[in-house]
Amino acid sequence: MKVENIILIGFMGSGKTSAGRLLAERLHYDFKDTDDMIGVLENTTIANIFRLHGEDYFRELETNLLLSIKDSMKRTVLSTGGGMPIRERNRKLLKEMGHVVFLRASCDTIIKRVSGDTSRPILKKGNLNETVERLLAVRTPYYEEAADVIIDTDNKSIYRIVDEIIEIIKYNVYQKRKDD
Ligand code: S3P
Repeated sequence: MKVENIILIGFMGSGKTSAGRLLAERLHYDFKDTDDMIGVLENTTIANIFRLHGEDYFRELETNLLLSIKDSMKRTVLSTGGGMPIRERNRKLLKEMGHVVFLRASCDTIIKRVSGDTSRPILKKGNLNETVERLLAVRTPYYEEAADVIIDTDNKSIYRIVDEIIEIIKYNVYQKRKDD
């Protein structure tokens, strides 16, 4: 496992982007966000990609992106879209790319954080509470399977979340060196 990259996974609204930026700053790492990169490559917004081409097309773009950055990414904190770990292929790629950290948040926390948000196409259809509950139930096993580390984020500031990520990764790296 390459430990020089840290990959953040988790549901929409779990704080991947804000914690990721701060974590990168603290570690003097680069920060990258898969949604931002896809937006730049496609020269449009994620919402437009969903509207024009649908979710399957977006999922294909996510896999292609991972394949294209996998070998060159160094000392980077990568924040991923909330649906990235749904695909088995992506889970495997993420694990190969670095230390995967699942930022776990409860249904209530997520609903509070994403309500009022209009930029996420997945949340536009139907009742927000029902959608979050349903998707969270489906996706949680995938997040857990992909994760090397799980951090609970409910009621924690991003400063505390970042401190916890740094501590646990330091510990894991130390343990791994000891075992090698
Ligand atoms: C999605 C999450 C979004 C973005 C897209 C689909 C999802 O990213 O990739 O709207 O399926 O959960 P964030 O988790 O950064 O909001």
